[in-house]
Amino acid sequence: ATRKTLADISKLYTSKQPISMVTSHDFITSRMVDSADIDINLIGDSLANTTLGLEDTNELELEEFLYHVKSVRRGNESSLLIADLPFGTYELSPEQALETSIKLIKYGRIQGVKLEGGSEVILPTIKKLVDVGIPVMGHVGLTPQKHNALGGYKLQGTSIESAVQVYQECLNIEKAGAFAIVLECIPNKLAEYITDKLSIPTIGIGAGPGTSGQVLVVSDLLGMKNPDENHIAKFVKHYETFYPKGVQALSEYRDDVKSKQFPLADDHGYKIKRDVFEEFK
Ligand code: KIV
Ligand code: NA
Repeated sequence: ATRKTLADISKLYTSKQPISMVTSHDFITSRMVDSADIDINLIGDSLANTTLGLEDTNELELEEFLYHVKSVRRGNESSLLIADLPFGTYELSPEQALETSIKLIKYGRIQGVKLEGGSEVILPTIKKLVDVGIPVMGHVGLTPQKHNALGGYKLQGTSIESAVQVYQECLNIEKAGAFAIVLECIPNKLAEYITDKLSIPTIGIGAGPGTSGQVLVVSDLLGMKNPDENHIAKFVKHYETFYPKGVQALSEYRDDVKSKQFPLADDHGYKIKRDVFEEFK
């Protein structure tokens, strides 16, 4: 398969065809994303919570992230590959962001990066990366790396000030040269309004049906998380329920091992010729 490029995404956008994006975190999940012909495979820092069992995305180290970026890259041959810039690896300066991005491109072989925020602090960074030829995806609304400042993981853009801020950030991110913007957890109408005003695609998660595309995290959409231990956001749709099915299958396996129903000699075992075995004995 030939890998999708920015031009393919642009073509979808200009012909008003929705863009599909999925976050995957390793070889096995990115292989599924590849087989399902998803347009964009994000290697998101949601890796921290979903796959590494960390408390939040701010704990994620660049080296452990890069390890997973490489794993995803090996599993996906066809989607546009975009990697997050982890917390602490890009905020100090445009130069720090460039250094991190170069590392991810050189060793992770991704095609572009995503970074959170659209404040005056982050805009020169987006411009810098774009100027040296690194495609940048923006991310506004609920930006999980700022959950401490936001007071949790909450819907954004619900007050006039907050809606104006989200909208203004989008305009600025577009002007800085980003090729797309993730809109996370903002009201449907605000997302649709922003999408209408921009001339780059918006990719929504918890932003309703009025965006240019949608993104979900693979472990959310496949139902891979233990529902008893995880709050499932309203915006998630489970297309599968892997967790209970996986637990059920593992329990059956355990019971079969204990009752000697697995393995079965003929079904799961190998034979040796009688004379060979006799001589061996
Ligand atoms: O880390 C991630 O998976 C993301 C998407 C949810 C946009 O940032
Ligand atoms: Na992320």
